[in-house]
Parts: sequence; C-alpha cells; structure tokens
Amino acid sequence: MKTLLYMALLASVVACSPPSGENDNMRSVAKEMKSRKIRRVTQAQILEQAQMLGDRVAKQASDLLDKNMADTLGSCVSLNKNITDTLLPSFKFTEIKRFALRAHTLTRATDATEQQLLDAYRYNDRNHISMSSNLQAIGDTTILYNAPIILTNSCLRCHGQAGKDVTALQQKFPKDTLTGYAAGQTIGIWSIKLHKPSVVLSVE
Ligand code: HEC
Repeated sequence: MKTLLYMALLASVVACSPPSGENDNMRSVAKEMKSRKIRRVTQAQILEQAQMLGDRVAKQASDLLDKNMADTLGSCVSLNKNITDTLLPSFKFTEIKRFALRAHTLTRATDATEQQLLDAYRYNDRNHISMSSNLQAIGDTTILYNAPIILTNSCLRCHGQAGKDVTALQQKFPKDTLTGYAAGQTIGIWSIKLHKPSVVLSVE
C-alpha cells in the first residue's frame, strides 16, 4: 500500500514537470508576457514623443525641399507629393501637408482643426508675432503637429525680392504673392498628422 501511494505521488510529480523541449516554449511564453506587460505612458510622455517625431519629420521634409529643388517653377509644388512618398515609410504619420501663410494661387483642403491652426499662424504672421511648433489632438487617434517653414537662401531664387534676388517666379508671374521674402522668414507651415497609437507605442 505504502509503495503504491509512493508510486502514485511520483507519477503526479513526473506529470507536472514539463517534458524536455517544453522548457523553451515556456521561456518564450514568459518573454511574451513580459513584453505585453501593461506600461503606463503619461500624457506628458506622449506629447514629448509627438513633439520629437514631428520635429524629425519637419526637419527631413525641409531638407528634402531644400536639396531637391529643381529650377522649374512647378518643382516646388510637385515636391509636396514627393516629400510624402519619401517620408511615409519611415514615419508613422498619416498625412503631411504644406500651407502658405499668405493667400496665393493654390488652395489645399483643410479640416476644421487644421484650418484653425492655419488661421492662428496667419494671424501671427500678419502681426509679426514669432511662430513656433504646436501640437493639437484631433479625436482619439490623431495628433496634429505644426511647425513654421523657414526660407533658406536656395528658396530666394523664386521667393526672394525683385531686384535683389533672381526671382524666376516674379518674372513669370508678377502678381504672385509668395515673393518678396528674405532668408530666415516664415513662408508657410508644415501640417503633419501623427497616428497617436503609433506615437504611444514608440515611447521607450
Ligand atoms: C524654382 C522656383 C522655386 C523655388 C527655388 C522654391 N519655390 Fe516654393 N514655390 C514655387 C512656386 C511656383 C510656388 C507656387 C506659388 C503660388 O501658388 O503662388 C511655390 C509655393 C511654395 C509654398 C506654398 C505651399 C504650397 O505648396 O501650397 C511654400 C510653403 C514654398 N513654396 C516653400 C518653399 C521653400 C521653403 C523653398 C526653399 C527650400 C522654396 N519654396 C523654393 C517655386 C519655388
């Protein structure tokens, strides 16, 4: 009887220990559980991350604009699509747009929040108030990042001052409103919609 009980106990102990090979399995399950552990991400961390991502996208978009500007007048405008196509795979933003601060020939569709921000930047521009980047939530899934587009020397070829710079734009379209600028001035804004869940997941 005693031996029987002993054997039964032994059998249950054997049954509980995993057969060889299962150890690896358990280890990977444990690892998975650890990676899925709920992390607390504060609102401040999300905003800080959105700011960092937005700054990075705006900087790369500005560099692309600066370096890839061809001589043709249309190149500046067609670069909009080029910028989106180039940057989209590496950044989790849903949309990147450019808006001029002055009224001009092109109009781009805006949604309500985008328009509010554009109006605020336009107000600042008219009143010579300095402009910086800005973050706004749109619903639960989008964070709108805006930042000024600042003209560099290479832009003056078209957007510069008549008589001072070679303004191809003004020669061809004397009434164009996007001329007369100096380097360092703000001509427009980047409007970048960041996908909020991706921003949250990318917080370290
Ligand atoms: C070869 C000429 C040329 C150069 C160089 C150029 N642009 Fe433009 N840009 C244009 C034309 C043409 C337009 C459209 C003008 C209009 O709609 O009135 C334009 C429009 C814009 C707009 C209005 C936004 C939009 O797309 O609706 C912004 C912002 C802008 N340019 C920024 C820049 C910046 C920044 C640089 C320098 C890095 C630059 N441009 C260099 C020709 C040029």
